[in-house]
Amino acid sequence: MAKILTLTMNPALDLTVQLGPLQLGQVNRSEAMLSHAAGKGLNVAQVLADLGHQVTVAGFLGVDNQQPFEALFTRRGFVDEFVRVPGETRSNIKLAEQSGRITDLNGPGPMVSEDAQQALYARVEQIATQFDAVVVAGSLPRGVSPEWLHKLLVRLKDLGLKVALDSSGLALRAGLAAGPWLIKPNTEELADALDAPIISIAAQAEAAASLRARGIEHVVISQGSEGVHWFSAETALQSLPPKVTVASTVGAGDSLLAGMVHGLLSGHPAQQTLRTATAIAAMAVTQIGFGITDNAQLKKLEGGVNVRTLAER
Ligand SMILES: Nc1ncnc2c1ncn2[C@@H]1O[C@H](COP(=O)(O)OP(=O)(O)OP(=O)(O)O)[C@@H](O)[C@H]1O
Ligand SMILES: [Mg+2]
Repeated sequence: MAKILTLTMNPALDLTVQLGPLQLGQVNRSEAMLSHAAGKGLNVAQVLADLGHQVTVAGFLGVDNQQPFEALFTRRGFVDEFVRVPGETRSNIKLAEQSGRITDLNGPGPMVSEDAQQALYARVEQIATQFDAVVVAGSLPRGVSPEWLHKLLVRLKDLGLKVALDSSGLALRAGLAAGPWLIKPNTEELADALDAPIISIAAQAEAAASLRARGIEHVVISQGSEGVHWFSAETALQSLPPKVTVASTVGAGDSLLAGMVHGLLSGHPAQQTLRTATAIAAMAVTQIGFGITDNAQLKKLEGGVNVRTLAER
């Protein structure tokens, strides 16, 4: 069991509204409404907890609607190191029509002050060395610059920590320059951050080599139903997930990341690490939520994952 810190700078209260055909500009009646505390770092934290790890969670949380988050932390046994900020954590509203169409309305979230940023930086710096790894996942809230994230990641790395990063856009770009231990972009996110299309395996291998030259040990590129490519000094592996019926892809990337961190920190062989991580991600897409709900089912999914070295292609 490892001790892991996850950072969620921009958590969200996900509100899923189930309804018939959406009538724009009309009064719509919903059939059901579900709200839960979310955010990529918190999703990763929950899967890591399912895998038996001890998790501390931190980031920025609005004081005005923190109750569902605190309830989650208590339920999952997370140590809460979130810095509280004035206002409400953003709400992300998902309008889920019977047809399967989903319309997202993502809120702006609170403005995070310099003081709050300094407080989180100091808190993380103070507690960091007790962890085996830090996972930083998701976007940045208003007021927080990619440069701040870069500074924090460099500091964590200097403290000797394994930093796993999953972000996009300018935050990913700034994060890459800090040379984290592991990254898990999808193909579009990586292409965007590197300003280059990276469609072919050769292009991905080349991009991974240049990222490794910056100190990034593990480049894990996710590609939806087409699986994962993982490049490190020791491995260039591809995994193909089993065919599953998709219920919702929410949390798939977060599950893959949690699975990779789990296998690497547990010292599992590379092929097994990737196989299990791919199965955990596949399990996420078979559910409306995500997480490891059934170990026998996970074993079955693992059996359906096809892992091979890229050179074999
Ligand atoms: N339809 C699917 N069937 C099986 N596995 C899937 C499917 N979609 C995604 N996965 C698994 O989940 C992993 C992550 O998915 P994806 O590449 O879409 O991540 P992402 O773009 O980061 O998603 P998000 O951040 O929204 O969770 C994939 O590498 C794959 O292993
Ligand atoms: Mg993702």
